[in-house]
Amino acid sequence: MNSKIPEFREKLQKKLNPGRYEHSLSVAFTCICLAMRYGYPIDQAEVAGMLHDCAKGYDNDTIIRHCEKKGIEITEDERKAPAVLHAKYGAWLAENTYDIHDQEILDAIACHTTGKPAMGLLDKILYVADYIEARRDKAEDLPVIRRLAFEDLDEALYQILEGTLNYLGSKGAFVDPMTRKTYDYYKQQRKGETNV
Ligand SMILES: [Fe+2]
Ligand SMILES: [Fe+2]
Repeated sequence: MNSKIPEFREKLQKKLNPGRYEHSLSVAFTCICLAMRYGYPIDQAEVAGMLHDCAKGYDNDTIIRHCEKKGIEITEDERKAPAVLHAKYGAWLAENTYDIHDQEILDAIACHTTGKPAMGLLDKILYVADYIEARRDKAEDLPVIRRLAFEDLDEALYQILEGTLNYLGSKGAFVDPMTRKTYDYYKQQRKGETNV
């Protein structure tokens, strides 16, 4: 175990509401399980899961203000859908207030809301863990995605992206273009694989 985990827990518990804190622990444990399954270092996966929502204690306006103050670039799309920004700001907080300098952990936190094309293994583990963790109970496809996550991580990732786009589409909500770009990338990859 990373020796700083108890310290991270203590700090997060003060910063996040109880439900969000519980979710963070659950994502951390799910990241551990997926890391075991796919051969990623367990300690790093646990830290990424634990800290991924460390910026969730702030509202959107505060996050935007903090980003501007710290010189963190905000795209026009992120201004339209600021909910995704907690990922980017979370990566900044992880580096600057939790003293994390492992680039793979920071990258995974930074892309955990939208994904990105050509994600690394930890990026995928965190993205999928965030969706399937045991405390989640709303999405109807959870039993299927949970099983799939341990059989084929890329396919689970693809199906989560597809489900997210369909859900946002049905609500007429704004979709951050990075989510669409990620989906298109993995759709293409999947097509390539099935054509072999
Ligand atoms: Fe998040
Ligand atoms: Fe989360």
